[in-house]
Amino acid sequence: MKSKYKIIKQDCIKWMNAQNPKSIDCIVTSPPYNLNIKYGNYDDSAPRKVYLVWLAEVAKAIKKVLKDKGQLFLNMGYSNSDPFVAMDVAQVFRKYFILQNQFTWVKHVVVNDFGHGQYKPITSNRYTSATTESVFHFTKKGDVAIDRLAIGQRNQTHPIYPELYSENRHRAVTRRKIAKRMKFKNYKDVLANATDTQKKEFENKVKQLLKEIPYEPEKKKCIGNAWFIPYTPTSKLSKQIGVDKGHNYRKNSRADHPATFPEKLSEQCIKLSGIKKGSIVYDPFLGTGTTLVSAIKLGMIGIGTEINENYNKFSKKRISLVNNRQLPE
Ligand SMILES: C[S@@+](CC[C@H](N)C(=O)[O-])C[C@H]1O[C@@H](n2cnc3c(N)ncnc32)[C@H](O)[C@@H]1O
Repeated sequence: MKSKYKIIKQDCIKWMNAQNPKSIDCIVTSPPYNLNIKYGNYDDSAPRKVYLVWLAEVAKAIKKVLKDKGQLFLNMGYSNSDPFVAMDVAQVFRKYFILQNQFTWVKHVVVNDFGHGQYKPITSNRYTSATTESVFHFTKKGDVAIDRLAIGQRNQTHPIYPELYSENRHRAVTRRKIAKRMKFKNYKDVLANATDTQKKEFENKVKQLLKEIPYEPEKKKCIGNAWFIPYTPTSKLSKQIGVDKGHNYRKNSRADHPATFPEKLSEQCIKLSGIKKGSIVYDPFLGTGTTLVSAIKLGMIGIGTEINENYNKFSKKRISLVNNRQLPE
């Protein structure tokens, strides 16, 4: 079955203002960052005040089209020379919405001396390379139920830090709980000082609690608000979208768009939102269509507005590949 989607070449404010109020379930978007980035003919270098006044109009229009329990995921980057821009934008949206959650999109991280992900390294004796961006989760009243476990992590035993969660650890924690309930200091204290009857009672209670709260390595838990999502490498993205030659060129993999987010970012927002299949997901600043690709794959109806015709052509091609199921997952 072909998915339903719509790409409109129009200014997002104009489009939203012409829609029925409260008609959209979820918005995932990344506006221009006002960092003088080249998006076709769009001027990304407005004076900060003008930029923020414009985004206030965007926020107002979003508030109008979002359902009462609708959700907005707003991605904003920053630069070392302009570190406040994401926070300034969040302060504008704060006038219209409640910040229900705040996520840090981690593009690169070092764990035990190994780097994971990619970033643009800079040469500087005062700045570090910027390896994160923000994703602000705004809702109208801060009371929208989300599905944390849809992007949850299995509770498996950690290969490097098994003391954090493992079968033995779970058993030890259970023993300690029961020891305390029975007014002993810990398990050792039970072994050393409990009577035979108390020891029996202790073992029975431990067994009972392990039945009620068993060791469950497959059970999902919340991953928190730091999201490690590496960029899809240019060559991989090219292959995914069916480019024949020149896999390493941005013009082929992203229509030369300078600031796209990875599919996993919009996918994670939509999954976390907990909206049902067939809900409407909208991206006011569609760029290369990333949000629509995720929305369609997750069975949603996708709508995007974008003023640049080249990007729209590219998005349509990219989505036609998803619809025909040619894209590797
Ligand atoms: C940061 S990019 C979005 C990139 C997108 N998330 C992706 O993954 O490809 C912002 C986009 O907003 C578009 N844009 C700028 N002003 C707009 C407006 N008034 N209405 C709709 N789109 C606009 C720009 O052309 C640019 O492609």
